[in-house]
Amino acid sequence: MNSPEMDAAWIGKTFDDFLFRPQEGVCESRQQITLSSPLTGGLNLELPIVSANMDSVTGMHMAEAMALEGGLGVIHRGLSIDKQAGKVARVKRSHSAIIEKPLCLPLGTTIREARTFARRHHITALLIETAAGSGVLAGLISDRDMPWFDNAGERTVDEFMTPIEKLHTHAPGISAEEAERLLFEKRIERLPLVDAEGRIHGLITRKDILFLRHRPFASKDGKGRLLVGAAVGARGDFVERAVDLIDAGADCLVIDIAHGHSRIMAEAIEKLRARCGGVPLICGNVATAEGARFLRDCGADAVKVGVGPGYGCRTRLETAAGVPQLQAIRETWCAVREEVPIIADGGIRHDKDIFLALVCGASAVMLGSALSGTDEAPGHVIEDPATHVKKKIYRGMTSPEAIFESLYDAENPDVVEEALETPAEGQESQVPYRGSVVSILHRIRGHLQSAVSYAGETSLASARAKILPDPLRFLIALSESSRRESYER
Ligand code: XMP
Repeated sequence: MNSPEMDAAWIGKTFDDFLFRPQEGVCESRQQITLSSPLTGGLNLELPIVSANMDSVTGMHMAEAMALEGGLGVIHRGLSIDKQAGKVARVKRSHSAIIEKPLCLPLGTTIREARTFARRHHITALLIETAAGSGVLAGLISDRDMPWFDNAGERTVDEFMTPIEKLHTHAPGISAEEAERLLFEKRIERLPLVDAEGRIHGLITRKDILFLRHRPFASKDGKGRLLVGAAVGARGDFVERAVDLIDAGADCLVIDIAHGHSRIMAEAIEKLRARCGGVPLICGNVATAEGARFLRDCGADAVKVGVGPGYGCRTRLETAAGVPQLQAIRETWCAVREEVPIIADGGIRHDKDIFLALVCGASAVMLGSALSGTDEAPGHVIEDPATHVKKKIYRGMTSPEAIFESLYDAENPDVVEEALETPAEGQESQVPYRGSVVSILHRIRGHLQSAVSYAGETSLASARAKILPDPLRFLIALSESSRRESYER
């Protein structure tokens, strides 16, 4: 049964079925166009793009890059709870204006141990505490302080660190601005935050402060840390996983199951609400008005929409289940309107699809293949020895290859059990290697700004407000020949 709230003209339609009718332009510079849009009731993105929770798309490097550019990365759940929570914690610690729980080693640690620890955590300086777990500052040792000459490896950090008496420190509660001034005045790289008893409360680094200054769109929480999401399932130890992810600092959880309009989802939301309180829950996937209302009524903070449009997805081929993605976006928006944001997930092939998704109902768009093949996506670059063409792997999370890899993660039985229950509905493919995801995000930002300008508006928010009530007034349905004229090059 098709949705009564939605105009029948949307039925069977997806991105390539429309062009947007250009409106009178009103802005002088496209670069001034803002793209801010809600992800959930409480979280806003300056670039409404979310990287998919897939093991070939979002690990910590992708999540970091996404947040720095104003989007959000959702760390996938195809790994043990500890590993996933570790990745969340790493993103929260990276480029944070104030590092709340800086990594420490105790007095007596050897230089060899300190080097290995610093390398493993990708950090250039370590706080030294008086004893393991004491949390009391004894000194600070940076890369530059660690001797590189022979036989120094067994000597201890005590000899080479700057002791607390010679360090500039500050009481907790300092603002990022005040810290920035102090770092400059004292010409120092790092400012440990300690209380009157010398207990460590944080660390501020000049590098992180300057880095964030040059990224005005970065998605940050109230404490100046990068935003990051994490995926959970709906069975087995998903509640423990959720608790650990929140402890590690996840700003939102994505409950990600193939058929989100189901009793198992309702129960999962109920259990997570009981245990995890008000953490924003993005729930999916659904593709119908009934599915969206169901998730709204279950208490979802955002509804993830898309059944079968994904590039690595075989659901429609294997089961015939699915809704053309633009119809699904419109249908779900018509069902829940402004009550709960829609996140369009899957099927984006061109940047114009993102704009259409946003003005037809979605408030953010999740991308998988469009961000794959990049440096920040997990996985190695493969070079064809004959042609020297470089590629990376992109695969659906229920592809045999992704499941096979999970089988080797003995601490992750739920993902495997869930996946083995039904035949694969995902596939693996090789995609061209495309360099850094940052240039892709810059391109998307530019194209979205241009699209808003063609819509005769100065912000994505005003374009959505104008178009969302009746997008068909602004869209031209394409014939076969006009589609060829538009998209065949
Ligand atoms: P794109 O088109 O951006 O889609 O690559 C990304 C989305 O595809 C979904 N996904 C899957 N769907 N079987 C599916 O049916 C799978 O194995 C699979 N893996 C990912 C997911 O919603 C993702 O965000």
